[in-house]
Amino acid sequence: MRTQVGIVGAGPAGLTLAHLLHLERIDSVVLEDRSREYVEARIRAGVLEQGTADLLREAGVGERMHREGIVHEGVYLQFDGERHRIDFDALTGKAIVIYGQTEVVKDLIEARLATGRPLLFEVEDVSVHDVESDRPEIRFRHDGVEQRLECDVIAGCVCRPSIPAGVLREFSREYPYGWLGILAAAPPSSDELVYAHHDRGFALLSLRTPELGRLYVQCRPDEDLDEWPDERIWEELHARLGLTGWTLTEGPVLEKGVTGMRSHVVEPMRHGNLFLAGDAAHIVPPTGAKGLNLAIADVRVLAEVLADWYRTGRRDTLDGYSQRCLRRVWRCEHFSWWMTSMLHRSPDADLFELKLQLSQLRYVTSSEPAMRSLAENYVGLELA
Ligand code: DHB
Repeated sequence: MRTQVGIVGAGPAGLTLAHLLHLERIDSVVLEDRSREYVEARIRAGVLEQGTADLLREAGVGERMHREGIVHEGVYLQFDGERHRIDFDALTGKAIVIYGQTEVVKDLIEARLATGRPLLFEVEDVSVHDVESDRPEIRFRHDGVEQRLECDVIAGCVCRPSIPAGVLREFSREYPYGWLGILAAAPPSSDELVYAHHDRGFALLSLRTPELGRLYVQCRPDEDLDEWPDERIWEELHARLGLTGWTLTEGPVLEKGVTGMRSHVVEPMRHGNLFLAGDAAHIVPPTGAKGLNLAIADVRVLAEVLADWYRTGRRDTLDGYSQRCLRRVWRCEHFSWWMTSMLHRSPDADLFELKLQLSQLRYVTSSEPAMRSLAENYVGLELA
């Protein structure tokens, strides 16, 4: 087999890239090791920056998002028994769209299948070869048959494919906590998201639809779900999110899971003719919901530089890919780390750290420049 761009991973990065390339009449093959059912069912984040929503709309895959997505013009930060609103619209003129990543993926898969271009699920033993040459190759097995896919370039959009040691630099941070998340058949009890700092740990009230709530509590990174019957989860949510005069509405728990928290960046986001995008290049902790948005921002740049290269034959725009992306990546890494550090209780935190968190929360909810800084990062900065 032969294609122009071989894409490893059918998450939001890989599928959006495939679609943007299709619009530029560039051929690609998308390979995914999971099944379509799995990819379309797994629950991920649900906040789209305005720029992400705009890109999906402009690419012609935003029709259902436009109908079903819920526009929010702010979020709440809660601490010390008070809830404060950050007004995105007043501070930045922008908004966010609540629409599950899972739904974005479903829309992108449908759009891909409609183009008739290849998207293969359940491929096994994917490996990349000769990425330093101008004929890089992806080898894999599909339906029991060994395949070789010859490409001009490869886009690595999931866990990083094999790259010789010493070529990339890696930067990481682990956090001593995780999130226990539930999807509940309960209408959201707040008109906008609530990020809560609490003595018992962080909690987040979010939603997917007017009927479905999405809620999280801070837990241990290796938390055992068996120790968390639904009653215990609701009890924690009530304790951490509760306010005088306001109650959380409960409902049947449809899903639960634990999310780890990690920051990770590899530099550069390219080796020869292998370009990294999305999770293959960087991970952010979930606080602030940057993961999906960052993945889409990468492939917007990647599609642009690849289209430019196919048009002009010049490699200099290709050479700028990593640097252009990394400016946004590090901004989002900082924002996600900062939101995480401000809102979570570390198991070994002392009172000094607690006082700093509360002071910072008071500052970002009372000083307009500080609020604007949070808001512009949350709704997405215009970079690259
Ligand atoms: C959601 C996830 C996040 O990480 C976040 O910051 C806000 C919302 C969500 O899943 O709804």
